[in-house]
Amino acid sequence: MRPSSYPDQEIRSINWQAFKLILPYLFEYKKRIAFAMLCLVFTKIASVYLPFILKDIVDTLDANSADKQNSALVIVPLALVAAYGLVRLSIVVLAEIRDTLFGRVTERAIRRIGLKVFRHLHALDLDFHLNRQTGGLSRDIDRGTSGINFLMRFMVFNIVPTLLEIVMVVTILFVNYGIWFALITLTSIVSYIAYSIFATEKRTRYVRAANQADSSSNTRAIDSLLNYETVKYFTNEEYEAQAYDQQLSTWEQAKIKNRLSLFALNGGQALIIAIAMTAMLALAASEVAKDNMTLGDFVLINAFMMQLFMPLNFLGFVYREIKGSLANIENLFGLLAKTAKVQDVPDATELRLAGPGDNSQNQASIVFNNITFAYNKKRPIIKGISFSINAGEKVAVVGQSGSGKSTLVKLLFRFYDVDSGDIQINQQDISKVSQHSLRTHIGIVPQDTVLFNDTLFNNVQYGCPTASKDEVLKAIELAHLSEFIASLPDGLATMVGERGLKLSGGEKQRVAIARTILKNPQILVFDEATSSLDSHSEQAILTAINEVAKNRTSLVIAHRLSTIVDSDNIIVMSHGEIVEQGNHQQLLALQGQYSKMWQLQQS
Ligand SMILES: Nc1ncnc2c1ncn2[C@@H]1O[C@H](COP(=O)(O)OP(=O)(O)OP(=O)(O)O)[C@@H](O)[C@H]1O
Ligand SMILES: [Mg+2]
Repeated sequence: MRPSSYPDQEIRSINWQAFKLILPYLFEYKKRIAFAMLCLVFTKIASVYLPFILKDIVDTLDANSADKQNSALVIVPLALVAAYGLVRLSIVVLAEIRDTLFGRVTERAIRRIGLKVFRHLHALDLDFHLNRQTGGLSRDIDRGTSGINFLMRFMVFNIVPTLLEIVMVVTILFVNYGIWFALITLTSIVSYIAYSIFATEKRTRYVRAANQADSSSNTRAIDSLLNYETVKYFTNEEYEAQAYDQQLSTWEQAKIKNRLSLFALNGGQALIIAIAMTAMLALAASEVAKDNMTLGDFVLINAFMMQLFMPLNFLGFVYREIKGSLANIENLFGLLAKTAKVQDVPDATELRLAGPGDNSQNQASIVFNNITFAYNKKRPIIKGISFSINAGEKVAVVGQSGSGKSTLVKLLFRFYDVDSGDIQINQQDISKVSQHSLRTHIGIVPQDTVLFNDTLFNNVQYGCPTASKDEVLKAIELAHLSEFIASLPDGLATMVGERGLKLSGGEKQRVAIARTILKNPQILVFDEATSSLDSHSEQAILTAINEVAKNRTSLVIAHRLSTIVDSDNIIVMSHGEIVEQGNHQQLLALQGQYSKMWQLQQS
């Protein structure tokens, strides 16, 4: 079980592509960004200025202690101390304002991108969704959005300002104290950054392995919980726990290596800082001793170094996280780059059912024209099928399990494109019309109905979200659900459980029928729509279905032949081919497969 993400090839260096990807989303609030940047520059100027106030305070105090009698001088450090406090405060306040201003920008970008990904996922084809791992996918999305958040915070408010500060400080040191101070600072910072990047690169592998293990174990856990009932049926709790634990132990191992490599990274960084600080202070101390510098200068240099290395301390972490974030963002945008196999043609038209000036109800004729189809090239499923359904007719498809009946429905609904041949509705090739217009005209009661974890009412109303309560109730009545709902303590407000598992199979089918009635399409497809019902309910619902299907074109797939004897045409399928067709009487007279199935079911 592999998560869908994390390409196998090594990501060797930071991939700035991802940064480019999110850039357009940030420009929605140009003014905010400009103000945030202004705050940022002021914060940095203030924080570089701070050590100078400190130096003045120390120097004044120093002079004071040398000349105790002059009391007027005592006032000066007080003013300086106040200024120091004020600058400190303004640094914090400006930083807060900057964060508040920019937070909005990040959140809006995340909202836009989140929605885009969601829409895109719905636009992808059924095949993608059948192959995806829900757990891994949701982790990818989570990590992608938090990656954007992180990138914004640290790129804009850590990396850029720190670089700005480094340049300012090194210049000041050079101008005020000469080449050596500037040189030591520069060398230590360069070696610090170089070491951080080197060590972080080295450990990327472990971080990625840990992430991958995290995704896998999550996928495993979710898959297992979704299959709760199956696990119980086979008393496989222990097996599941062991499989999960195996994933967890991989994760644990990955994390251990991850931690050790972090230790090496942090240790090396600390060493570089310690050496640099010692060298700078030793140099400064000797200058003070030689009277080339004041005590204030010593304090200033110390303050600058602390100020520089504090954000740098984060650098290894930030570098790695940013790299990780960029990879996560790329993953997220990778989802967006996936293209659906089933797509509208560039000049797709709307499917038209009613001809001009034609007022009759039944407008949809369907033609399957020599179609072939395979999910996998190596295994053909539909091998050249042709038949037509005249407008308003009811056509049944029967045949043994796995012969491709449901596949025909998926092709009609255009979940997949046919490999050859074409399907036409009212002489319009369905691959040339928009998927949306095609699907609004087709109502399907699927073989396995899955419901939303919501109330019964909302699940039925889903067929037409704008329907009134009365319309919903009428559909419920037609689908013979009223009696069942009346027996429920919570009635229409009953929650149906995840995927509708709290309803019986027959109840779910009736909800699906009610939904479709509410959708009110011209073409109706029933795929084993009454298979889970007892004969009594089945009869009642068949009556309802016939009522609804009157004047509409319908395709009915059934195992129980008694439910389709009244069809205008019956297609008998076997192994992806049509072996017989005709109405009930004709097929019986043929004495072929259909009549054999019929006799078997009658006995
Ligand atoms: N997404 C898929 N990927 C690969 N193979 C698939 C997929 N869906 C269905 N199949 C295969 O295609 C064949 C036809 O499936 P289909 O669901 O159309 O059968 P059916 O006639 O509806 O059977 P039943 O009466 O049991 O519902 C089956 O052998 C099935 O294993
Ligand atoms: Mg089927």
